[in-house]
Amino acid sequence: MRHDVVLIPGDGIGPEITEAVVRILKAAGAPLDFHPAKAGMAAFTETGNPLPDETIALIDRYRLALKGPLETPVGGGFRSINVTLRQRYNLFSNIRPAKTLPGIETPFRDVDLVLFRENTQGLYIGHERWVDDDHTHAESVGVVTREASERIITAAFEYARKHGRTSVALVHKANILKLTTGLFLQVGREVAERYRDIAFRDLIVDNMAMQMVLKPKQFDVVVTTNLFGDILSDLASGLVGGLGLTGSANIGYYCAIFEAVHGSAPDIAGQNKANPTALLFSAVMMLEHLGEDAIAADIRQAVNAVLPDKDLRTGDLGGKGTTSSFADAVISRLTA
Ligand code: NAI
Ligand code: MG
Repeated sequence: MRHDVVLIPGDGIGPEITEAVVRILKAAGAPLDFHPAKAGMAAFTETGNPLPDETIALIDRYRLALKGPLETPVGGGFRSINVTLRQRYNLFSNIRPAKTLPGIETPFRDVDLVLFRENTQGLYIGHERWVDDDHTHAESVGVVTREASERIITAAFEYARKHGRTSVALVHKANILKLTTGLFLQVGREVAERYRDIAFRDLIVDNMAMQMVLKPKQFDVVVTTNLFGDILSDLASGLVGGLGLTGSANIGYYCAIFEAVHGSAPDIAGQNKANPTALLFSAVMMLEHLGEDAIAADIRQAVNAVLPDKDLRTGDLGGKGTTSSFADAVISRLTA
């Protein structure tokens, strides 16, 4: 069966890594039909709208997208299109695995954690306002509901059970944010009662940050609120070699959007330097989501064969490869 996928190259390094990833997917024989669409700063500059109606119509129709990073203006400007898409399509689970990869030297060994980030609420959604007319006083409102907490925490436990993982750690700041993250923790304790086969613990987020760099191996499945998940997933990427290596899935009830954990990397954009592995692993997660497990496994083994070679891997990993030469090397190791 073939699958329709909306393809959003995005901003900064987005177009170059997207091109590399599509080439690898085609070479691997992935039965995907791509429908290109614009979003982010590129779309804003070209059309005056960072999320054009045609893009929404395509996602409405196909309910599946592979997305490059989108630049979000800092301070002012338009609202994050990533946040807009996650809310519009109710993509409540943001699943972000971080696993030690062959030949990538880091201070940590055998990291293998999967972070579940609540994707539609919390402080991250930017419910902010000026309190005074002079703009000297701002406030931000974090929203947490029982329903949204329950569905993400349940998704984390279900994932643990399905993938033979033995523990779920819930991360919060319920000592200070007693109502919002306190509710998240309370719901976590209730959900854990239904999964007695899986060990459950909770950690306060500041301790979690320290524990992750001290003993990352202790973590298996992690579930947390939106902003903490954003920060801790970049930290988790750092444990396994950096943002060039970690993919992610945004999953809702009827729509899914796959994207790298990283952003548009303006410092290296347009130079054929970016590591396409993070977006490629996101595409592999999409193939697994579609049940195309054999093709997903073939791509993973090809990446694992290339990464240990310093001549082939990209500069972020101390290698000599470029975005395009790395893609060529992965393609040459596919068995398809
Ligand atoms: P970033 O993730 O773009 O870059 C952080 C650092 O990691 C930079 O040094 C960059 O060169 C490096 N890096 C990231 N991806 C890489 C790759 N594939 N290969 C090699 N090196 C890589 O974060 P930054 O600079 O804070 O944000 C830049 C822009 O991206 C902002 O406008 C931000 O809003 C946006 N952003 C978008 C995201 C999305 O679309 N999901 C996620 C995160 C940020
Ligand atoms: Mg982030």
